[in-house]
Amino acid sequence: MTAMLNVKDLRAYYGQVQALHGLSFALNEGSLTTLLGANGAGKTTTLRAICNMVRSTGAIEFEGKPLSGKSTESVVRLGIAHVPQGRGTFTTMTVEENLQLGAITRSDSKNIVSDIERMYEHFPVLKERHTQQAGTLSGGEQQMLAVARALMLRPRLMLLDEPSFGLAPLIVRDLFKIQDQPRGEGHHSGGGAECATGAGTRRPGLCDRNRAHRDVGQCCRDREQRRHP
Ligand SMILES: Nc1ncnc2c1ncn2[C@@H]1O[C@H](COP(=O)(O)OP(=O)(O)OP(=O)(O)O)[C@@H](O)[C@H]1O
Ligand SMILES: [Mg+2]
Repeated sequence: MTAMLNVKDLRAYYGQVQALHGLSFALNEGSLTTLLGANGAGKTTTLRAICNMVRSTGAIEFEGKPLSGKSTESVVRLGIAHVPQGRGTFTTMTVEENLQLGAITRSDSKNIVSDIERMYEHFPVLKERHTQQAGTLSGGEQQMLAVARALMLRPRLMLLDEPSFGLAPLIVRDLFKIQDQPRGEGHHSGGGAECATGAGTRRPGLCDRNRAHRDVGQCCRDREQRRHP
């Protein structure tokens, strides 16, 4: 089977600081992959590199096509949704405007209203607060909104950075159930994949149906040790 996402020898840089030292992994359609690693290991940077938000070298292929040189917007248009660490909602916009924005690259506008309703069914608190500014939601509510906004893209691939942060365990369980559900008709229907990060050790709540775990820190350490034995 050809991997949906193939990352080879990924190195990423913040100015002179090298944050990734040659990370390689692949993930398949229909899978949930977790990137594990200590604080500072480079999990967030890996997701940023996939979205071309940080300078990187190496090869990243999505559905057989290279992502290098593509703008972040083009990456989103390919169906890759990123929920950044620390939520990443548009704080001065309302809940509903955030959800509409999640669908901004979609061409099937007729399904957008029903998808918003679906998000409200999954997260009733967002319906109650649909006219409220996102920045005034609680931390957990903002996390729900960030995930719902990403789902509004009908993504082929979801990149979730610390998705369980600040959420009650039951909500975390529901969140992964929602992502298991069929994504309906539309240009991004069919099986998708998810890539989530988690700091420290494995989290059973996230890893129940995992098929792959990649330890970012270990990958980078292995590489470093080979270079400097
Ligand atoms: N904007 C930046 N400028 C300079 N260095 C950065 C920047 N962002 C991250 N780094 C550095 O890159 C390395 C990897 O950071 P990253 O945020 O990817 O780690 P992480 O695995 O997501 O950690 P955490 O579990 O704490 O979220 C760290 O050493 C960090 O200090
Ligand atoms: Mg991080």
